[in-house]
Amino acid sequence: GLPERVRIHEVGPRDGLQNEQTVVPVETKAEFIHRLAAAGLTTIEATSFVHPRWVPQLADAARLMPMLDDLTGVRLPVLVPNEKGLERALELGVTEVAVFASATESFARANLNRTVDEALAMFEPVIARAAGAGVNVRGYLSMCFGDPWEGAVPLPQVTAVCRRLRDMGCTELSLGDTIGVATPGHVTALLTSLNEAGVPTSALAVHFHDTYGQALSNTLTALRHGVTTVDASAGGLGGCPYARSATGNLATEDLLWMLQGLGISTGVDLGRLTATSAWMAGQLGRPSPSRTVRALSHK
Ligand code: HMG
Ligand code: MG
Repeated sequence: GLPERVRIHEVGPRDGLQNEQTVVPVETKAEFIHRLAAAGLTTIEATSFVHPRWVPQLADAARLMPMLDDLTGVRLPVLVPNEKGLERALELGVTEVAVFASATESFARANLNRTVDEALAMFEPVIARAAGAGVNVRGYLSMCFGDPWEGAVPLPQVTAVCRRLRDMGCTELSLGDTIGVATPGHVTALLTSLNEAGVPTSALAVHFHDTYGQALSNTLTALRHGVTTVDASAGGLGGCPYARSATGNLATEDLLWMLQGLGISTGVDLGRLTATSAWMAGQLGRPSPSRTVRALSHK
């Protein structure tokens, strides 16, 4: 069966913009997030408190967050890799954070300058301190399906890191197909082995990138397995600066088109969201890669 309702975890302002070459002014980011909220999105990943040299596009995080103070009732999680990032976020009143682990050694090194174990050790005090402050922690896991350096990633390697993130106290796990190579059979296999490893499906979210055009099929497969939280990026913005060949996330509009057709509610207004992504594409100076945004904009 399929769920009646899906919660969309919007990642455009973070996963989308982190990869943009042109620096987007902080005022434009704030307007983008306000428009996403006005379209009905209730979880909007706003930015990252990472090293500004590693992700220059999000170096304005401390200026952005106060511009969102009026958005009560909207969850605004941010990425934090370490205690320094958590401290910067807590000072600004952030109430939800995400750590980001890797299932592979190559990506842990490229993205965090750590081994998998060192990265988990770095997250442990972050998760504990956040929990102590009443702050929820999402755990991302990158390279759950394939890795640009290592190829296909063995399922036990993925489930082992998932278990450790759960045991450390992450309330939600987002399964990342960072380079978009997953196909539906692989999604079924991973969700089944997580289930067997005792990770409840209710604690899972899926995070698909659309590199090979598989993101919607993979999402539908996950929904059939009971997943109800789906990450998506308005207009299909995105990628990851530390993973070669990572292109945009599943576009929120493409996801909405499918969910509406299936009669699954989200609370998001497709027309307002499409207008927002078309506006953002104008700000970035190139068309949105989302099929749905293009189709609806040409009507
Ligand atoms: P490092 O160089 O090993 O850092 O980087 P360090 O711990 O050795 O510290 C070096 C310096 O950085 C120190 O300053 C620290 O204070 C400073 P110095 O003493 O030299 O002047 N520093 C910081 N400054 C500001 N904020 C901080 C911070 N931490 C240390 N939080 C580090 C390690 C983790 C910091 C670095 O690798 C980093 O920032 N990485 C972030 C990479 C990133 O953001 N990638 C994109 C997000 S992941 C993704 O997109 C995948 C996802 O979408 C899911 C999917 O699709 O798979 C989530
Ligand atoms: Mg991503």
